[in-house]
Amino acid sequence: MIIESEESVTAAVLDAMTSASSPRLVHVMSALVRHLHAFAREAALSEDEFEIGIDFLNRIGQATNDHHNEGILFSDALGLSSLVCLLNNGRSGATETAAALLGPFWRMYSPQTHNGGSILRSDTPGSALFATCSISDPEGNPLAGVEVDVWQASPVGLYENQDSTQADMNLRGKFRTDAGGRFWFRSVKPAGYPVPTSGPVGDLLRAQNRHPYRPAHLHFLGFKAGYKTLITQVFVDDDTHLESDVVFGVTRHLIGDYRKGAGAAPDADVKGDWYSLDYAFVMEPGEAKLPVPPIK
Ligand code: BEZ
Ligand code: FE
Repeated sequence: MIIESEESVTAAVLDAMTSASSPRLVHVMSALVRHLHAFAREAALSEDEFEIGIDFLNRIGQATNDHHNEGILFSDALGLSSLVCLLNNGRSGATETAAALLGPFWRMYSPQTHNGGSILRSDTPGSALFATCSISDPEGNPLAGVEVDVWQASPVGLYENQDSTQADMNLRGKFRTDAGGRFWFRSVKPAGYPVPTSGPVGDLLRAQNRHPYRPAHLHFLGFKAGYKTLITQVFVDDDTHLESDVVFGVTRHLIGDYRKGAGAAPDADVKGDWYSLDYAFVMEPGEAKLPVPPIK
């Protein structure tokens, strides 16, 4: 098709894409092109800005490697990861959902850990945390045999694979729910941390005068055949960044009740303050499918 005008280029591109063998590909790419062209028109995108945008995308690719996923970080910082999560869980936002974005730091092979075990694998600062969790189906029936990955950043603000001072797999564990749908473990109370800011996403946050912090949280991934894999986070209720999570992951449902313990801790070796967390998860019937790990 000869392009006669600015208006006709959109129709020409849409037309060129109709013969893809996958109808879903036609649908998704058509929507993308329509919105991308509408974006350029609405923003009156200049040639200089277009160049900056292309360079930004290239830098996202260049900053991504086996140990760092700048692409996910970009999607997270735009709220796209959260939006996709909310659209695909809790009946498209019709009901409260227990799901939250995966983030870039999940690893596939967390160490199997027995219930009651600790996920600390090297010296880690922070107050002891005793978490007792349960998983049920939407009718409230306990789900036994759910494999649950737990992971968190150290209170120094880094995941083990960002920090050579932590042991491999520190603050990661894989649990299995018992006959009552319960799993429980010991860790340290999480602290908030900044997302990585050395790449293009950091440049964008600085240009937008946005802080890079996530409120403190534990990550969970629950996997059981016949149920939609539950990917979620449980946030610390007194964190100062709950209302301004840089990646827009906090929903009311996901704010946990991290209680300061009174009296003796469950384990005799605990010194100083300790906390407990009781949290109940619900898994929806659906497909059990693991995500592709964002990093190795
Ligand atoms: C995380 O919670 O691990 C995370 C999520 C989004 C960006 C960076 C980190
Ligand atoms: Fe995190």
